[in-house]
Amino acid sequence: MARRWTNTLTQADVTPKAAFMNRRQIMAGMGGMAGLATLGALPNAAKAETLEPNSWEDVTTYCNYYEFGSGKGDPAKYAGSLTTSPWSVKIDGLVDKPGDYDFQQILGEMTLEERIYRFRCVEAWSMVVPWTGFELADLLNLAGVQEGAKYVAFETLYRPSEMPGTAYKVLDWPYREGLRLDEAMHPLTLMATGIFGKDLPNQNGAPLRLVVPWKYGFKSIKSVVRITLTDKEPPTSWNMANAREYGFYSNVNPHVSHPRWSQASERRLGGGLFARREPTLMFNGYEEDVASLYDGMDLAEFF
Ligand code: MTE
Repeated sequence: MARRWTNTLTQADVTPKAAFMNRRQIMAGMGGMAGLATLGALPNAAKAETLEPNSWEDVTTYCNYYEFGSGKGDPAKYAGSLTTSPWSVKIDGLVDKPGDYDFQQILGEMTLEERIYRFRCVEAWSMVVPWTGFELADLLNLAGVQEGAKYVAFETLYRPSEMPGTAYKVLDWPYREGLRLDEAMHPLTLMATGIFGKDLPNQNGAPLRLVVPWKYGFKSIKSVVRITLTDKEPPTSWNMANAREYGFYSNVNPHVSHPRWSQASERRLGGGLFARREPTLMFNGYEEDVASLYDGMDLAEFF
């Protein structure tokens, strides 16, 4: 069974299914889930289609993956060309067993489960996604975290021949992200390999991406090829691009505005033109689970 966190959502909260896939794809996904530990919520997947009508195109084309362009529709248009097999993840730095871990080998060692999480972009749109994946902690434990490690750095694949967006210096490639070690080891922190019981589409970060549900979406780095344990806070792409606007922590916080807009509310994708904005929740609704990680920290200073 999927572990149930205090704020884990139910299937009814999932962004209308058309947001991610049509009925046929849901069925195809349900048929091909060998190795998936929890199937509990999936049989209801189709039911959710009868909730708010929503088009598959609306949301699967609304992605952020700048390696394929900065338009919301660019990743869906151009990421199909990305070669995701074979795939390996280099795990290095302060670990007992550094090396190149083959993605299939990783899958063989991990227990996949489904987690339904809120997802809140720093741009103030949000959605709810049923991810398939495993806890990052399990992967880090496999590599053996050494004493002295305090942070985890992540890198996305940088392959210009397949990533047209990297021709533009929007960011300093490769896309980089980082977490404090205790954030990385938190049981809510997921390495996702799928959505709706199906392998991750390329535009959503195939074959393996990070998901940190209490942080703004840009922390959830896609198509990870390197994980480095370090004793220093690692540089991160958006922070390097604009430190005033994007902090290292980037915890969802309705009380701390982005310099150019409020973070107090959000637009749930799939709601249509006249959707009401919803109030943004502290730590994106995971306050009970994660607030203690930041005891004594000024969250306005360490944004
Ligand atoms: N990872 C990489 N490598 N490149 C990116 O541009 N965009 C981030 C994050 N991970 C991004 C990335 C941002 S800003 C968001 S909001 C989420 O991915 C979007 O995830 P989604 O497209 O699956 O909704």
